[in-house]
Amino acid sequence: MPNGQKEQFPVPKHIAIIMDGNGRWAQKRGLPRNAGHRQGAKVLENICDYCQKIGVRYVTAYAFSTENWKRPQAEVDTIMDLLRNYLKEASKQTRRNVRLLFLGDRTPLAGDIRQLMDQAERESAGNTGITVCMAINYGGRAEIVHSARSLARLAAQGRLDPDRIDESLFAQYLYTKEMPSPDLLIRPSGELRISNFLLWQLAYTEFVFMDVLWPDFTPSHLDQAIAQYAKRNRRFGGI
Ligand code: IPE
Ligand code: IPE
Ligand code: MG
Repeated sequence: MPNGQKEQFPVPKHIAIIMDGNGRWAQKRGLPRNAGHRQGAKVLENICDYCQKIGVRYVTAYAFSTENWKRPQAEVDTIMDLLRNYLKEASKQTRRNVRLLFLGDRTPLAGDIRQLMDQAERESAGNTGITVCMAINYGGRAEIVHSARSLARLAAQGRLDPDRIDESLFAQYLYTKEMPSPDLLIRPSGELRISNFLLWQLAYTEFVFMDVLWPDFTPSHLDQAIAQYAKRNRRFGGI
């Protein structure tokens, strides 16, 4: 680029991120895995700030999957504590005009965490800046089952004609009902899979897999992912 200028790309409206590689980042430094989760949480805040600055409207971050309960209890506890801290500081986000949302089944989460989530959503509901959506105890399959069950219940009660169920009604019963589909999915850490994230919503999303570990992820990595996205030709089945 001449004069050290940055190339300008169209910015995706909605970016989904699988925040992966925290454990390996810590291991490489001879630190406990929890240190990786702590660093990963800081990086998320930094990346959300950057997204807000460049005009991204929605960020959905995978923080804890329905399968992550399989991890040792101490690691699960640390991740929940980090979430608790994030939620306690949520007013910081609210003041920056960030709208916070949470995806996933909250039933198994601790009572105080659920309360803090409700409070953060309520207090930031009117914000018009970026929407930051955290997927916690989220699983794509579980989400689809949840939607199917809600619709089946209405049908069994005689309140819904099954023939009225189409894609748009089905999507209204997903956790993401208030969000457009992601334009870009970023998975750092070198893994080439989606690990049960947003199975329905990623139907036409552009995927960028990157070799960096999440705690090392910087705004410059985000720029690189957006640059790749900008080169893609999205056809949505057309020509
Ligand atoms: C992602 O990092 C964080 C969560 C899944 C909660 P990992 O903890 O999966 O890190 P790696 O993949 O073991 O390096
Ligand atoms: C996906 O990462 C879940 C989150 C980042 C929250 P995992 O580390 O759990 O995924 P797998 O086990 O490598 O597929
Ligand atoms: Mg992982």
